[in-house]
Amino acid sequence: MPSLLTLPRFQVAPVQRRHALVDLVGNTPLLRLARLTAHLPTSVQVYAKAEWFNPSGSVKDRPALNIIRAAEAAGQLTPDKILLDSTSGNMGIAYATLATTLGYRVELVIPENASPERLGILRALGVMFTLSSPLEGSDGALRVARQLAAAEPGKYFYANQYNNPANWQAHYHSTGPEIYAQTDEQVTHFVAGLGTSGTFTGTSRVLKAFNPAIRAIAFQPDSPFHGLEGLKHLETALVPEIYDPTLADEQLVIGTEEAYAMTRRLAREEGLFVGISAGAAAVAALRVAETLTAGTVVTVFPDAGYKYVSERFWKETR
Ligand SMILES: Cc1ncc(COP(=O)(O)O)c(C=O)c1O
Repeated sequence: MPSLLTLPRFQVAPVQRRHALVDLVGNTPLLRLARLTAHLPTSVQVYAKAEWFNPSGSVKDRPALNIIRAAEAAGQLTPDKILLDSTSGNMGIAYATLATTLGYRVELVIPENASPERLGILRALGVMFTLSSPLEGSDGALRVARQLAAAEPGKYFYANQYNNPANWQAHYHSTGPEIYAQTDEQVTHFVAGLGTSGTFTGTSRVLKAFNPAIRAIAFQPDSPFHGLEGLKHLETALVPEIYDPTLADEQLVIGTEEAYAMTRRLAREEGLFVGISAGAAAVAALRVAETLTAGTVVTVFPDAGYKYVSERFWKETR
């Protein structure tokens, strides 16, 4: 009797069969925000890079891997050294994931008030960490990391994501060219939030090199006390050394509540369960798109929503 289940014919597109984890960094999908932009003319389109498709779940895999590779090439990172940096979460998770798979140890300085989800993930990954003052945020963690590195230079490779050109160069060589190719060279506006500023700096620089007419729009939180995890209020924070203030054609400020509301809308209207800085990026990208009669606006959604599930804003209905 013929089986109801016949073997599928192998008609799938050729797939790469074996991967190292590091080979999966980058080449993330570019998603169109069709429903949130339904009120705009069809000549105006908004897209987001879905960065949670990276192996450790965020955009920070790109700079983490590039920092590791550049340090290996320069002989600064060897198996006897510990990779040290300060981070409030995603970069630590990226270092832990990629350094571990490459055989390096990682030590992080993290503000004590980092979310339980983040600390739990880092513990799961077996990372050593020092907690810094919750009152001093990411700047306090940075100062402690500097002190540790200065006290024992032979023990550590101090990655210093705020001052390491390999951070922005990761985006110059990957995020930017991907956006240019994925939009068939049609991107007209690039919008990104500022944390270390690596994403904005590297991507804007290469897009402007491809086409100087492309506008680069940076955004940051509207106050020092904000809930936009991963982003900095530059007026009151230690400004990252890699930040280039001449690059932005426009600067926007985004409020925490509007970012929370948009993060909920992205989940409930687009099916995109993303983090709060992605909600802020969507607010900024829409604000730009609403001023245009034609254009292709691209932004970056740095991570997914899982690390923020305990946030109170999810309980609100709208
Ligand atoms: C969730 C999130 N959003 C945005 C950013 C900002 O990216 P960048 O450091 O490239 O400015 C980060 C950086 O850590 C982040 O973790």
